[in-house]
Amino acid sequence: PKRIFSGMQPTSSSLHLGNYLGALVNWVKLQDDYDAYYGVVDLHALTVTTDPSVLRDRTRITAAQFLAGGVDPTRSTLVLQSYVPEHTELAWILACQTAMGEASRMTQFKDKTAKGQTANVGLFTYPILMAADILLYDADLVPVGEDQRQHLELTRDLAERMNSRFGRLLTVPEPYIVQGSAKVMDLQDPTSKMSKSLSSDNGLIDLLDDPRRIVKKIKSAVTDTEREIRYDVEAKPGVSNLLVIHSTLSGTPVADLERQFEGKGYGDLKGEVAEVVVAAIEPFQARFNELLADPAELDRILVEGSAKAGEVAAATLARVREGIGLLPRA
Ligand code: TYM
Repeated sequence: PKRIFSGMQPTSSSLHLGNYLGALVNWVKLQDDYDAYYGVVDLHALTVTTDPSVLRDRTRITAAQFLAGGVDPTRSTLVLQSYVPEHTELAWILACQTAMGEASRMTQFKDKTAKGQTANVGLFTYPILMAADILLYDADLVPVGEDQRQHLELTRDLAERMNSRFGRLLTVPEPYIVQGSAKVMDLQDPTSKMSKSLSSDNGLIDLLDDPRRIVKKIKSAVTDTEREIRYDVEAKPGVSNLLVIHSTLSGTPVADLERQFEGKGYGDLKGEVAEVVVAAIEPFQARFNELLADPAELDRILVEGSAKAGEVAAATLARVREGIGLLPRA
């Protein structure tokens, strides 16, 4: 079967609805047909200053949320990035193939620093570590949200460059970005993506939020001054976002929802979206709490998955080392 790699940073004490609908839902779907590797990318989280005990908690919390969302460790391989040192070693090799100019064009870095996040060198080279994550596993497909598209372009460019300089060493991956849910928007500012660092509290739904707060947040979502329930991202970003959230969770196509809500008001739409979200989140939270109650089991899953991942990573790295002229390790 073809290979998948994707990852999430443990930079928060809960994943949000964008992470869930834009990525995690697809991870779960794809694990049946692909050899899937899913990473808690803790080294990426070091680009943000975090108290050590908080980082430890968030790392376990993030892994538990993958599992609570339906990632099955008997079908997918869970990787803790820092357990597999090949990630950083390949990142260095790729950094030496990356032009300053192309690294400087990464819009996520530019956005973050423009909004006042102080930049360390790690934040700047972060997309190169991400490329290493993907290329290390010879991933064919990378399921992510829209905001990662440019990083995947860089990953593809680096793989192609390595291959043309040194012969076929790396698999060139394809992005898997699902229209609509790949960009879940801020409920209070539906022209900006939902984001843990940039959204206001009311604009963001955390998967671990109290269901009553979730209902409140959805009911106070910003819409528009018309009355018509119709998918039109340009003219009606708020309503379109609610339709996408509903559709992704309920499995009902947006066109069918438009028909179902004909003649109804925004209050009806919000009420139903809230129901659909809570119906997904309640069992998620129950599973999460069970998983977190047994941290030893979680750690075991991460250790075991990372050991398996390490074998794939070591083989790729040996091939790359040899291909670029580093002496083989005895
Ligand atoms: P991260 O941790 O910020 O986000 C995890 C995933 O959630 C998606 N996402 C969204 N999707 C839809 N709507 C939104 N509002 C939204 N916000 C976030 C992201 O696109 C992502 O898929 N650099 C990555 C982590 C990473 C990675 C990798 C991903 C490191 N190495 C290798 C894939 C492959 C990141 O910061 O994601």
